[in-house]
Amino acid sequence: MDAISAIMTRRSIRTYEAGPVGPEQVETLLRAAMAAPSAGNQQPWRFVVVTERTVLDRLAETSPYAGPLHRAPLAVVVCGETIGERHPGYWVEDCSAAMENLLLAAHALRLGAVWLGYHPDAGRVELVRDVLGLPDSVVPLGIASVGHPAEERPLVDRYREELVHRESW
Ligand SMILES: Cc1cc2nc3c(=O)[nH]c(=O)nc-3n(C[C@H](O)[C@H](O)[C@H](O)COP(=O)(O)O)c2cc1C
Repeated sequence: MDAISAIMTRRSIRTYEAGPVGPEQVETLLRAAMAAPSAGNQQPWRFVVVTERTVLDRLAETSPYAGPLHRAPLAVVVCGETIGERHPGYWVEDCSAAMENLLLAAHALRLGAVWLGYHPDAGRVELVRDVLGLPDSVVPLGIASVGHPAEERPLVDRYREELVHRESW
C-alpha cells in the first residue's frame, strides 16, 4: 500500500478479531511512530506497550470513550516526556505526529486501530498515570487501540474546497 492510499483509506477500527498482534508488527508500529518529525528533532515521545488482558481492561475504564480496549489485544500508550524540553509544549504536536504515523502503519499492515484521546483531559491523564505508574513528567497524549480488524468502514472523502484559502484569507 503506498502512502497516499494508506492516508486516504485509513478509518478508525474499534472491533477486533481474536488473536495477538505479532512482535514484528509491534516493532514496525513503534518504528513508524518514532520516524515522525518533531520540533528540533527532540523526539519527546515515550511508549508503553500493553498486551496483558487485565491491564487493557483497566485502561478501558480510564475514559468513557476507551471501550475498544476491552476488545483489543494491543494498546500502545503514546506519551510525552516534558523534562528537558528545548521547545516547551511542542511535545503535543510531536506525539500527535507519532500517533498518526502509528495509525497509518497499522492500516498498511492490515491491522485496525483507533486513537483514544487523553491529554488535555486531566482526569483521564491521572487515571492512566495510576494504571501504568507513569512518572509526573510523562503525559499520556493518547492510546492506540490495535488489533486484527473485525469491521469494515466505508471510505470517506472529506475534501471541502470551501475550507481552503489561497494566497490570503
Ligand atoms: C485526538 C483524537 C482523540 C480521539 N479520541 C477517541 C476516543 O477517545 N475514542 C474513540 O473511539 N475514538 C476517538 N478518536 C477517533 C475519532 O472519533 C475518529 O478519528 C473520527 O471520528 C474520524 O473517523 P475516522 O478515524 O474513521 O476517519 C479520536 C481521534 C483523535 C484525533
